[in-house]
Amino acid sequence: MRMGAFPDDPGLNAVLAMVIPDGPIFDFGFGAGQHLWPLAERFPGRVVGLDIHPSWFEEASLEVLLYKHDVRLLAEDALQFPLPEEGSAIIVIGMTVYLTKDRVRSFVARAWQGLLPGGILMVSFATYDDFVLYALGPRDYPLERGSYQVNCPCGFCGNYGLSVWDEEEALELLLALSGARLIDSHRQETVQDLGEGIPRDRSFLYTTVQKTAV
Ligand SMILES: C[S@@+](CC[C@H](N)C(=O)[O-])C[C@H]1O[C@@H](n2cnc3c(N)ncnc32)[C@H](O)[C@@H]1O
Repeated sequence: MRMGAFPDDPGLNAVLAMVIPDGPIFDFGFGAGQHLWPLAERFPGRVVGLDIHPSWFEEASLEVLLYKHDVRLLAEDALQFPLPEEGSAIIVIGMTVYLTKDRVRSFVARAWQGLLPGGILMVSFATYDDFVLYALGPRDYPLERGSYQVNCPCGFCGNYGLSVWDEEEALELLLALSGARLIDSHRQETVQDLGEGIPRDRSFLYTTVQKTAV
């Protein structure tokens, strides 16, 4: 597994050491698999990963073959995916940058409702993203944090717009969820080439909250 390739994630480390309720685990927008691979290793047979982009799905499918991860992968749109009625143990939402803020809010609310008591919600928010700037076209820096109707230019991320968040605003959204207990919140700054041969600065807020019994 390519564990070493990802930055240290205190929220994920805490979850990997926890006893969580029985039930399925979902990673929506798994991308390169920062959450997917550690969760699959710790909770074999329970993790379902969805990514709308065929190239991430294909790359992850190859990893499954190589490293024999016991995980189910789907190349599907998370927004169209029905969560199981019996409840989920962990829900990771990694694709918020590719949704307008109203869509993030309603998806987070739906995920929270679908979590079992004691379950975990992990959401990553873009707090600065050159990729979004690129999608928006030339603009003045710094990027205005907001919600944009402009779609991801990859052509696969649905037509759900883009969003860049203030840290306080993102935390406010999560802490307003009934029974939410904050486990971790930290920023990851990266420089990534997203396929156009140009390095782009990205900054994401990684958050982890637990749904206490209410
Ligand atoms: C910023 S990356 C996050 C990758 C990884 N989860 C992480 O935290 O580092 C967002 C991922 O969400 C995927 N994505 C975007 N919209 C999606 C949707 N509607 N359903 C499922 N996946 C989506 C993209 O293809 C991309 O791989």
